[in-house]
Amino acid sequence: MKAYALTAADKPAALVDLPDPELPADGVLIRVRAASVNGIDLFEANGYLVPMIPHDFPVVVGRDAAGVVEAVGSGRTDVAVGDEVIAFVPAMPPLHVGTWAEILAAGPQVVLTPKPTGLSFEAAAAIPLAGATALDSVDAAAVSAGDTVLIIGATGGVGSIAVQLAAARGVTVIGTARDGDDAAFVRSLGATETIDYSAVDVAAAVAARFPGGVDVLLDFINRGEAFGPMASLVHDGGRIATTMGAADADVLAARGVAATNVMGSPTPEKVADLAARAAAGTLRIEVQQAFVLGDAASALGAFAAGTRGKLVLTFE
Ligand SMILES: NC(=O)c1ccc[n+]([C@@H]2O[C@H](COP(=O)([O-])OP(=O)(O)OC[C@H]3O[C@@H](n4cnc5c(N)ncnc54)[C@H](OP(=O)(O)O)[C@@H]3O)[C@@H](O)[C@H]2O)c1
Repeated sequence: MKAYALTAADKPAALVDLPDPELPADGVLIRVRAASVNGIDLFEANGYLVPMIPHDFPVVVGRDAAGVVEAVGSGRTDVAVGDEVIAFVPAMPPLHVGTWAEILAAGPQVVLTPKPTGLSFEAAAAIPLAGATALDSVDAAAVSAGDTVLIIGATGGVGSIAVQLAAARGVTVIGTARDGDDAAFVRSLGATETIDYSAVDVAAAVAARFPGGVDVLLDFINRGEAFGPMASLVHDGGRIATTMGAADADVLAARGVAATNVMGSPTPEKVADLAARAAAGTLRIEVQQAFVLGDAASALGAFAAGTRGKLVLTFE
């Protein structure tokens, strides 16, 4: 099968031919129809995870997929041949299985959920990691009706879903977006205001607009010193969730701010919930661009350059 994979510790990932995987007795084989691009894929493909997590080469890149079940192991009764499913492969050591391959051998550790028939494979594949991370962030910050919520990175895969999940809870969303198409996109998702992070100082603009502070910060961008000015926009007693590992919960607790460093954790229930909303038209999964598997390097380049919504890979 064709796959985008790392074959050695000192070489970046590339399109390679690998033997078709065997059917695990407790697993399923999935013919992948679409996969999506996440930040972790960029790190994995460049070999940056090699010093951090054991690798069992070849290591196929990719966490999210949607496809069709092609074979079912004797120990599995939850899926049948022909089922359309959404899959998420956790980054558990040793890294080996990934979704950027024509066939995914999904063992019991792989999160599987049925794909609603009305949802495209591309949109379905875009959901698991970004969607669950958005949901986990909104939940971690206990976003609730009446809140004013500042979302940094509102244009991205995680942010574009978080804007909608927050807005659905009856809050006022302020999202970062470049003026023009990006700002229109974020407003169309439910933000009432946008701030062009490329043109103004976000912290100064929000402080001027909300002198009493915001209730909630969802920060999908800032780490290190850049995070402090954002955290200071939250009034005492407010809440913060960040995917960047940027929050010092003890320091923030000193002024009553509840802060969570979110590790997005897709489960069958979360993915099914998000997929059902997407199929029902109450959650927009913006697929900005689709690339064929053979052009995975371009997809990674486009992701690094900045996205509006999600990028996906498609398979013939
Ligand atoms: N902890 C976890 O479990 C977890 C899970 C998923 C993702 N993540 C991380 O969370 C981050 C967001 O993920 P994602 O998938 O949403 O990435 P993404 O799709 O690349 O989204 C980032 C968005 O932010 C915009 N942006 C860039 N610089 C910005 C700035 N200074 N201020 C405001 N917006 C800016 C980008 O747009 P333009 O550059 O085009 O303007 C892009 O639309 C990534 O770093 C990812 O690795 C963590």
